[in-house]
Amino acid sequence: MTELLRITDLKVHYPIRTGFWNRISDYVYAVDGVNFSINEGETYGLVGESGSGKTTIGSVIVGLEKATTGQVVYKGQDVTKASTRRKMNYNRDVQMIFQDSMSSLNPRKTVYQIIAEPLRNFEHLDNNARDKRIKQLLDIVGLPQRTLYQYPFQFSGGQRQRIGIARAVATNPKLIVADEPVSALDLSVQAQVLNFMKDIQKEFNISYLFISHDLGVVRHMTNNIAIMHLGRFVEIGTRDDVFEDAQHIYTKRLLAAIPEMDVENRDKNKAHRLAIEQQYQEHHADYYDANGRPYPMRKLTDTHSVAMTKEQAQAAGVASGTAEEEALAKGGK
Ligand SMILES: Nc1ncnc2c1ncn2[C@@H]1O[C@H](COP(=O)(O)OP(=O)(O)OP(=O)(O)O)[C@@H](O)[C@H]1O
Ligand SMILES: [Mg+2]
Repeated sequence: MTELLRITDLKVHYPIRTGFWNRISDYVYAVDGVNFSINEGETYGLVGESGSGKTTIGSVIVGLEKATTGQVVYKGQDVTKASTRRKMNYNRDVQMIFQDSMSSLNPRKTVYQIIAEPLRNFEHLDNNARDKRIKQLLDIVGLPQRTLYQYPFQFSGGQRQRIGIARAVATNPKLIVADEPVSALDLSVQAQVLNFMKDIQKEFNISYLFISHDLGVVRHMTNNIAIMHLGRFVEIGTRDDVFEDAQHIYTKRLLAAIPEMDVENRDKNKAHRLAIEQQYQEHHADYYDANGRPYPMRKLTDTHSVAMTKEQAQAAGVASGTAEEEALAKGGK
């Protein structure tokens, strides 16, 4: 598998300003030291509750937000600098589907103008070729040609999401940050849009960073998953690692919260959820440091890492250090 994007030690801290002089009194640790990488053609899932920092990571990747520290490496090159991004066509190759389709589509522009914008910015097509490409994109996302000159408010939520997708795929991107692409849609339309995203992934070998607060949705989309809480990752692993062998109490709680569709299993599921809730109440403190933040990640296996203390790692029979400890050990200090 070829690595496409790597994020190392990413931190985004927003200053909180208070008082008459507007002095910085504290920081919001929106993202507080995360590491992960996305391979070509792969879907990487990013899951966590509201406010955990998911959109912030996506915004840094597409360049809408600045990292406080840390690196974004694309095809082996650090793309933190705008000049490198330009040289590598990064802004064309990496696109975003926004969380809120209504506010991310300009209400004064027609579908044609909305999809034409990235094409004007990044592809130097003549008018005929651009028209053809826009019509082709409408076909790809399954919207009828007659909608070309309609405005966003004239569409349903599911259709609007498709316009957002058409805009994101217009420039044949390599990576799409899909921020809650289906959360605003009802269940039947969700499945349609997800299947459609999978189809274009296969056809064009697109990688996704798939952001969602819903583990149930992520399960059907991703190869690898990161669980995020309070700006940090608490667990990363393959789909099996997370769904079959979750270790962190926060992951277990998210898993227990997935609704059970099978009526026969409902009672069993409810009992399990209550047991996890009790475990959470009793042992919550073991999983968070004195400031209430998750511990740094330690490797359990090559694919599976969990936020835990050294003692917990030793008890689990693994001796791996945190990224920092391993860097120190490598440096011979
Ligand atoms: N521009 C900003 N200035 C200050 N704080 C911000 C800013 N943007 C985000 N935050 C804070 O950073 C934290 C993470 O926000 P973010 O939008 O990344 O969360 P999220 O995981 O995407 O949540 P949701 O699931 O609700 O979309 C929140 O506490 C939020 O209040
Ligand atoms: Mg968000």
